[in-house]
Amino acid sequence: MAKGAGTIYVCQSCGKQSPKSLGRCPACGAWNTFVEERARAVPKGAAARGGLHAREAKPVAFADIESQDDVRVSSGITEFDRVLGGGIVPGSLVLIGGDPGIGKSTLLLEVADKLSAGGARVLYVSGEESERQIKMRGERLGVVAENLYLLPETNLESIFAEMEREEPGAVIVDSIQTVFSSQIESAPGSVSQVREVAGRFLTFAKSRGVPVFLIGHVTKEGSIAGPKALEHIVDTVLYFEGDRHHNHRIVRATKNRFGAANELGVFEMTGAGLKPVANPSEIFLQERPENAAGSVVTACMEGTRPVLVEVQALVASSKYNYPLRTAQGFNANRIALLLAVLEKRLELPLLNNDVFVNVAGGLDIDEPAADLGVVAALVSSYKNRPLDGKTAVFGEVGLTGEVRGAMQAQVRAREAQTLGFKRLILPASNAEGLQRLLGLRVVGVRSVEEALRELF
Ligand code: TYD
Ligand code: MG
Repeated sequence: MAKGAGTIYVCQSCGKQSPKSLGRCPACGAWNTFVEERARAVPKGAAARGGLHAREAKPVAFADIESQDDVRVSSGITEFDRVLGGGIVPGSLVLIGGDPGIGKSTLLLEVADKLSAGGARVLYVSGEESERQIKMRGERLGVVAENLYLLPETNLESIFAEMEREEPGAVIVDSIQTVFSSQIESAPGSVSQVREVAGRFLTFAKSRGVPVFLIGHVTKEGSIAGPKALEHIVDTVLYFEGDRHHNHRIVRATKNRFGAANELGVFEMTGAGLKPVANPSEIFLQERPENAAGSVVTACMEGTRPVLVEVQALVASSKYNYPLRTAQGFNANRIALLLAVLEKRLELPLLNNDVFVNVAGGLDIDEPAADLGVVAALVSSYKNRPLDGKTAVFGEVGLTGEVRGAMQAQVRAREAQTLGFKRLILPASNAEGLQRLLGLRVVGVRSVEEALRELF
């Protein structure tokens, strides 16, 4: 059947367009993601340029451009300021993603409360919940804001009309998937809609210098619907990491034009909302078992902050032809590599065992400096020998079994000292430059073998 002119198919994962539906997206490789959408009539004039450049642009002397860093506004929530890189940048567009029920609306309602208590007029656009529901949540959170306005609306044009009238100092959109522009025919939540909506809010944010927060749902695959399409439009992407089964919540900046990416904010979900956690290491180590084989503390850097986490491993003889490899919070390929190193360089016959690795507390660690922690946990479980509870480790492990230096060794060491650790095993190259820390014995090692000799 011939389709009318103007019908296109759009990959809902990456936004690739095609004149016909495809089973597999040639751009991002996703299956069955093409959805029929109406091609958009290209708008004429200034609006066609879209985005930042809706206004006629002229060159500006570099020296004349005002520096922005001193104009950050505190959100009133320390951990939220931290993930944003030190506060809210006026005119920034921030995307906040996470699983349903993880606390996105809760966090942003608290931010709205604090901002409006600071004098800003805050507009909270909600396409998900009624004013009543938000009010109820607000009462649990102790929201008292006078300048907070709720707008239960999903039509983009109506929202903009309201924003023209209210002239808010900050805007929160909960959620971007529910908002639709009537100028586009495809369904709310589709890539074209989401991209258009984000683009319009970007223009608004930049031209008025008003921060806009977009809440986004995460798909089953773990990405915000239309992720690639959205992530490069916005300035900052924050994700709720981990799951709802812990009572703490981790928010990570995966992209930030105004601060360090990978920065972490840690909150505790209480009966009265999300409370910032000043020292996350304490939370992550809280339930650490004593004298248990397979448990090791490793010193990680998350953004600019050191965090001590417990890595757990379980090595058990396998009943399968293909031994199981399960990892949570750590890259599974990296574990396969570390197992191969242990097998080949240390002649530990691990490859035929089922191996489970878990980072306690729901944190994802993706830095190589955690390698030594994983290795120590694996060997501890394999040998069924607990490690000293006052010892922490870090270091990258290379293919020849060498232990390589990591950045920010001093910062990690200081965190270990603060938390009362007595011994830190780290790369020899890092140990050399380290200042002495009272009460913490620092042991530099060159290879996995040396590290294990020191540990066991
Ligand atoms: P919510 O912010 O609605 O999640 P999202 O917007 O990401 O879907 O959070 C809902 C969960 O948080 C719900 O399971 C209840 C819990 N919660 C608390 O534990 N304490 C509170 O004070 C609030 C407001 C919510
Ligand atoms: Mg919500």
